[in-house]
Amino acid sequence: METKIFDLATEYEAGMQEAAREISSGGLVVFPTETVYGIGADAMNPAAVAEIFAVKGRPSDNPLIVHICEPGQAGELAREISPMARRVMEAFMPGPFTAVLKCRDCVPACVTAGLDSVGIRMPGAAHARELIRRSGKFIAAPSANLSGKPSPTRVQHVIDDFAGKVPVILNGGEAAVGLESTVCDLTGDIPLVLRPGGVTPEMIRDAAGDVRVARAVLEGLPEGAKAASPGMKYKHYAPRARVVVVDGESAKAIAICVNSMYDREVNKGKNSLIFCTDEHRPLYGGRRTYSLGRDLGEEAHRLFDALRQADKDRTDTIFFEAVEPRGMGLAVMNRIIRAAGFQIVHAAEEG
Ligand code: TXA
Ligand code: MG
Repeated sequence: METKIFDLATEYEAGMQEAAREISSGGLVVFPTETVYGIGADAMNPAAVAEIFAVKGRPSDNPLIVHICEPGQAGELAREISPMARRVMEAFMPGPFTAVLKCRDCVPACVTAGLDSVGIRMPGAAHARELIRRSGKFIAAPSANLSGKPSPTRVQHVIDDFAGKVPVILNGGEAAVGLESTVCDLTGDIPLVLRPGGVTPEMIRDAAGDVRVARAVLEGLPEGAKAASPGMKYKHYAPRARVVVVDGESAKAIAICVNSMYDREVNKGKNSLIFCTDEHRPLYGGRRTYSLGRDLGEEAHRLFDALRQADKDRTDTIFFEAVEPRGMGLAVMNRIIRAAGFQIVHAAEEG
């Protein structure tokens, strides 16, 4: 299949027209949002939705998020929106936020994976909303990566995974947030964060008065447990490299521990790499580092690109400095700790 790639900075009209036509006629489009790139299709067309699962190699029991372009459309998909849910949605939609609500019968079972709920998101990126508007459809879209790979934050990532497999890719440059949306169950009395993202639990508490975070976010699922969000049970975000997350009393304690593990790996002939902040780079001497930036926002923004880059460089082991699991740090830790199989090395014990 020939893939047409449009740069939204220079070919906005042509790209939008082609993409909207493709969606409304049952085809697939890769499009940018402020979180990550999505691979979308008409949510009400089961054959088109099936094609998303096929192209990604995604397990059919993992539901898709449905994207809307007007707040009022949530009520066309959800059959129950509590006053609490309404307040939270008003605060964070449009934005990097997905509301899980009881769904109406019109939402196909292949989208919800047979659940009684549906994830609804109104993207903050204006071009994503424009695509939804012009197509005249709700767009079901997971992240535009092959199943098991880090989500795409740059157009090159989606070209690597989907060139020749989808008719249209819209290039919107680098995704601003860089991690997928916060998935939040709003069906109960208290919002429950199933997947942390750009909208933090602290922000949700401010809007709703209270918030809970699913334990699986940092601890993974116990053997045999049922996932509140099916995506939790898959080993996502897994680069080829082994990922070792290290925490400790101080940056220096972490660095001492990382350096000794790094040197052991290198002595075994392993290609090792340290993900760290700009500030901590000097603590690692001449060792191979990849700077994730100056703060948590930059770490979130660069993390998936760094993971993909590490694979391209044939890295065997990635060491990652743990961050405080608060604010955006919770989302960053959730992604990296999943890549590490929920194991953390504590510097005091190891160093
Ligand atoms: O930022 C994002 O959310 C991106 C962009 C493209 O919108 N999309 C995305 O989709 O990350 P995906 O499919 O890669 O991740 C959706 C997550 C999965 O973990 C899935 O299990 C969960 O949301 N999910 C979807 N519908 C759900 C539901 N009804 N109940 C619980 N979890 C749900
Ligand atoms: Mg995904």
